Amino acid sequence: MSNIGSVEQILRVNHAGECGAIWIYRSQITIASLFHPSCVAELQSMLDHERVHFARFDAVLKNRGIRHCHALAFWAFGGWLLGTITALMGPKAIWSCTAAIETRVNLHLEHQIAFLEQRDGEILKVVQLIQADEKAHEQHARSKGGDADGVLYRGLRVCIVGATSFAIWLSTQL
Ligand SMILES: [Fe+2]
Ligand SMILES: [Fe+2]
Repeated sequence: MSNIGSVEQILRVNHAGECGAIWIYRSQITIASLFHPSCVAELQSMLDHERVHFARFDAVLKNRGIRHCHALAFWAFGGWLLGTITALMGPKAIWSCTAAIETRVNLHLEHQIAFLEQRDGEILKVVQLIQADEKAHEQHARSKGGDADGVLYRGLRVCIVGATSFAIWLSTQL
């Protein structure tokens, strides 16, 4: 469900996605600092990356005079909610969340890169830079228990991949 239609759409979807990622990590850090302090430093490092990603897409949108996605508040609220729920469930759910989202995001970035290669070298470089971080996030999450067995964690990952796909699609429409 990638539905890539234009470079503008890629910029809007990615900008919105980074906003969602920031809110996931912000809410996870708030709860993890109370109940799972061993996760906080790694979550903070990922949050720092997502802030840089957001700033890059935000700068390009402004430079090119492109509006942001109308669903930005939805991504922020959805990210906050998902981060809160998974952090309350514990570290395996925290890392399952990152693993599931980044798996879906990295697939989407592959499609974007294939689209951009023939169309926009500047944005291609921005997406490739971000892809390196997102792949590292995915691998790190898997190494910390993001591939956890059990119906609960498998079900959680399926739901999160589905929700991420829906959010990506929604952002292409708004
Ligand atoms: Fe990111
Ligand atoms: Fe990420």
